[in-house]
Amino acid sequence: MPSEKSVYLPDKALSKNAYVSSFAEYKEMHNKSIDNPEEFWGDIASQFYWETPFKYDKFFRYNFDVRKGPIYTKWFDGATTNICYNVLDRNIRNGHGDKIAFYWEGNHPDDYSRLTYKNLLVEVCKFANVLKSKGVKKGDRVAVYMPMILEAVITLLACARIGAVHSIVFAGFSADSFSERISDCEAKVLVTADGVWRGEKFLGLKTICDQAMDKCARNGHNVECCIVVSHLCRVTTPNRIPNQNKKINMKEGRDIWWQDIVPNASSSCYPEWVQAEDPLFMLYTSGSTGKPKGVLHTTGGYMVYAATTFKYVFDYKPNDVYWCTADIGWITGHTYVVYGPLANAATSILYEGTPFYPDNDRFWVIVEKYKVNQFYTAPTAIRALMKFDSDLVKRHNLSSLKVLGSVGEPINPEAWMWYYKLVGSEKCSIVDTFWQTETGGHVLTPLPGAIPMKPGAASTPFFGVQPVLLDESGKEIEGEGEGYLVFPRPWPGIMRTLFNNHERYETTYFSKFPGYYCTGDGARRDSDGYLWVTGRVDDMLNVSGHLMSTSEVESVLTEHYGIAEAAVVAKPHPIKGECLYCFVTTTEAVVFDGKLLAELKQHVRERIGPFAQPDVIHNAPALPKTRSGKIMRRILRKVAINDRDVGDISTLAETNVVEQLFANRPATA
Ligand code: WTA
Repeated sequence: MPSEKSVYLPDKALSKNAYVSSFAEYKEMHNKSIDNPEEFWGDIASQFYWETPFKYDKFFRYNFDVRKGPIYTKWFDGATTNICYNVLDRNIRNGHGDKIAFYWEGNHPDDYSRLTYKNLLVEVCKFANVLKSKGVKKGDRVAVYMPMILEAVITLLACARIGAVHSIVFAGFSADSFSERISDCEAKVLVTADGVWRGEKFLGLKTICDQAMDKCARNGHNVECCIVVSHLCRVTTPNRIPNQNKKINMKEGRDIWWQDIVPNASSSCYPEWVQAEDPLFMLYTSGSTGKPKGVLHTTGGYMVYAATTFKYVFDYKPNDVYWCTADIGWITGHTYVVYGPLANAATSILYEGTPFYPDNDRFWVIVEKYKVNQFYTAPTAIRALMKFDSDLVKRHNLSSLKVLGSVGEPINPEAWMWYYKLVGSEKCSIVDTFWQTETGGHVLTPLPGAIPMKPGAASTPFFGVQPVLLDESGKEIEGEGEGYLVFPRPWPGIMRTLFNNHERYETTYFSKFPGYYCTGDGARRDSDGYLWVTGRVDDMLNVSGHLMSTSEVESVLTEHYGIAEAAVVAKPHPIKGECLYCFVTTTEAVVFDGKLLAELKQHVRERIGPFAQPDVIHNAPALPKTRSGKIMRRILRKVAINDRDVGDISTLAETNVVEQLFANRPATA
């Protein structure tokens, strides 16, 4: 296996044609972006259309120090623009109208379609007019719960066109989680589809929306209108079984079919010019205290940053075909399925299904079919695909590939090598992109063609980003070392606040180390100055790239009448990266048996979503606690991996608890 010392140089041909061809060139650009942000970002921003141009005296202002007053970031303040206009109308004016914006590839290989920039604009305008007719105005929130279909992209852009704020919830969240998010953002309108097939699994989206809207209504928030794409009637189902028994309830006066209203709407819609710092979208992410946080992104800075990271990190050239496998419900889907590619007039693939259907080579089938040049996926998918016979990859012609991306969690060197050798034939650059919902776009990543690669290292900061490592006392670590990954200044795409909760924004991200945005991740700087992200340093778990908090799962477990106390830790997992290992103490009246186990798993699925289902539930008559009652998670993490080297336990109130836990580790652990 490669070590920190192994370095892979970018392919010569790739380097020669890349936007940034050498480390020295990267360094020069990076220095300029830090020393002279006005010139660096001003040149890029002037390629966009601004209804009211930005002025250099109000170009960039911020405060990241809670001691000096409220935290804020402003880019291009006072300028007005519209991101939908920029990604559609502007590209059409520049001659890209007949270019394909999206190839849609369905779950079933027989289903596919495409949309040019011109067609996309028509559809977006129609839907924008529908939203207006339903009373949606600038600043209103629109909730979105959709599969990977073209209408999802159309919905986002239609919101942006009229200045409405989209709030997408990943269509894998349960009705409970979804309703909490709809109520929090006070969405007037909800856009969804009747259902979707993912592989051979059916997901009844509208039924989940019904439950979520009912729950919202019980809590005093009424969704006024629910627009439903009729999707099932147009797709081929697994084994071609008819889509029967999929009756959809439509509530009179509230629910309408997309197909009943959109075709008749006018196809012209003048864009709403919004302030650069007006909100574009919000997206919920897990918080370590349990309640999800509505991360809010604004328009101008996000637009410029999404476009710039996409161009340089994927080295996207005008005739390339790009594919990001992320779901639109996550930030990766927002920035690198929708806004980043469209801002560059790119041609992308929008894929509805899973990597495993109808066979385990579906990703490679699609890469070959569309001659994909840039492919962007997650380590968890790579690890899942590595299990299969390598012939599944080799039998496909993947020679179009130039850049391979990774996102969502640290990529382990084994997975990196497999990706590099088997998928990329040792000629593609791998871009291990570290970023967060909060950062809006990539913040650490090698640039293909410019930065020699080290397997597992997110490597170097993107333009405008200045990473710092701090020790526990808040002192900056110079040179080699490991610490908290923080940023002393903003780049254009960073979030501006948490929806309706600026105070939580300040305490969550800026209070631990005044003067810095705190990522919550740890990182190590090696002797070459490369950065290696080591993972979360707070109580967050990363299961298959889905971030969740231990306390969120704990509080759901203790909702069950049989559970007195719960403690959740992350356990390493060969495919998911991490999985949930839950310790539960039952109430006296309840026995820990198969029935209880099944109920607990089901309960977590229902309250949060299927991806949060615990892998292990451990019957713990007592938990290891200090005398002050604090659970010692360090010990629980050791029990989870069956490592008896637990270290000092002298501060425990009762030391025999530890032995007891090791003795009754479940067989499934
Ligand atoms: C983790 C996803 C290491 C990290 C874009 C971060 C990574 C969290 C990487 C954000 C990477 C993401 N290397 N860790 N390349 N990419 N992470 O908000 O812990 O869903 O804080 O955004 O994922 O997850 P989020």
